[in-house]
Amino acid sequence: MNLTGFATAESTSRLGERRQGVFHERRRPLYEGGPLVSLVGFGTYRIGFSPGLGHPECREALEYALLRGVNLIDTSTNYGNGQSELLIGQTLAALVSNQTLARDNVVLVSKAGYAQGNTLELVQQREREGRPFDSVFKFGSDLWYCLDPEFIIDQLERSRARLGVQCLDVFLVHNPEYMLKAYEHNNIPLEKARSDFYAQLQKCFLALEKSVAAGHLRAYGVSSNTLGSTSDDPAAVSLQLLIDCAQRVSAQNSFRVVQCPLNWIEVNPVAIESADDEDNTLTLARKNGIGVLANRPFNAMHDGGLIRLTRPTVDASTVADDAQRKGLQNWTRLSRDMERLAKEYITIPGYEDASLSQLVLSTLMWQPGLSSVLCGMRKKDYVVDAETATGLPMLVNADQILAQIYQDLEFHKDAN
Ligand SMILES: NC(=O)c1ccc[n+]([C@@H]2O[C@H](COP(=O)([O-])OP(=O)(O)OC[C@H]3O[C@@H](n4cnc5c(N)ncnc54)[C@H](OP(=O)(O)O)[C@@H]3O)[C@@H](O)[C@H]2O)c1
Repeated sequence: MNLTGFATAESTSRLGERRQGVFHERRRPLYEGGPLVSLVGFGTYRIGFSPGLGHPECREALEYALLRGVNLIDTSTNYGNGQSELLIGQTLAALVSNQTLARDNVVLVSKAGYAQGNTLELVQQREREGRPFDSVFKFGSDLWYCLDPEFIIDQLERSRARLGVQCLDVFLVHNPEYMLKAYEHNNIPLEKARSDFYAQLQKCFLALEKSVAAGHLRAYGVSSNTLGSTSDDPAAVSLQLLIDCAQRVSAQNSFRVVQCPLNWIEVNPVAIESADDEDNTLTLARKNGIGVLANRPFNAMHDGGLIRLTRPTVDASTVADDAQRKGLQNWTRLSRDMERLAKEYITIPGYEDASLSQLVLSTLMWQPGLSSVLCGMRKKDYVVDAETATGLPMLVNADQILAQIYQDLEFHKDAN
């Protein structure tokens, strides 16, 4: 069964009589004039039907989140080799069929660009048949990347089928900076790389506009790990140049959403003004009515490693392995230090007992211009935690608080 309809400003502002709680009460437009979304969205990078992808716990968490009022789900054609979309589709269909939810209450975001697993098979099959996709970049035997508009639309169609919906709310070109990395690897001059890159994205936007016109899609955009990076980074993606591409396609375009990492260590979208853009990414997005979704709030990349910005959920004293116990003790100490640091700057009442994850979510969700923070809450406890964070008092100066925390973390790193 394909569910009809899509989320609108009107359909997402109706508070069901039985619906209470902060995920329902605290919502804001995904983009100017767009559907209202909860301040925290459900990230589905690692969910699916196998225990390795957290099943069945992840399904219960998703259902619980939807019932509590989380109404934004972020997925991708490559998450769990398509299983993430299938699981979301099945969960949504069950809730719609028993009339717990309506399709138009929920905003579905998916993405395309990666050729992995079954999608890699498809791209390779086309090569064997002598009708290869255009703009394919090969990064190894199990990871290719493709920016052919025909491929992007093929993926949109498969995404709609797996999610079981006639119309997707948002479809994003997924990490297109892979094209810039491929050019850099092949020593192609940066100026040509950037010119080809934005020309290729413009072709993708044109194809996505046709899907909007056909009623298969409401809005499109780009998700990029390098959105807002300074322009000395060869893989940097500029929001202003993306807006220019969409404008060239149509003055009435549906380029409405971007997505990028944002956490206490990766702050480019809020803090750094790139050479191309006078404003930082969030400010520029707000001025243009474009919504910004933040991802990886707790998974901060630093110096090629990962820092988890949560309290450990395992007690170190229960771990037998010496090295693991020491690692957990260090993590516990670091998380307590970071909580103390944040509380020096968050001085309004209500935050005295907040945990690290709640402090991280609060400082991000209240950034001016941010629509929602995507969180990998594949366990029910994580949904409860995000709900507690959403209910904490609004941080009116969240941008200053984040800048202060970031600067102090930098200080600690330099001192070590
Ligand atoms: N380029 C892109 O488009 C892109 C890139 C990255 C992410 N995303 C999207 O953004 C979503 C969020 O990113 P993410 O899942 O990578 O990272 P995240 O939200 O920062 O979560 C990282 C991990 O933290 C743990 N966690 C989550 N909530 C917690 C809580 N309340 N307390 C303690 N631990 C918690 C979970 O680990 P365990 O499950 O292992 O316990 C989770 O996998 C993704 O699911 C995806 O939808 C998009």
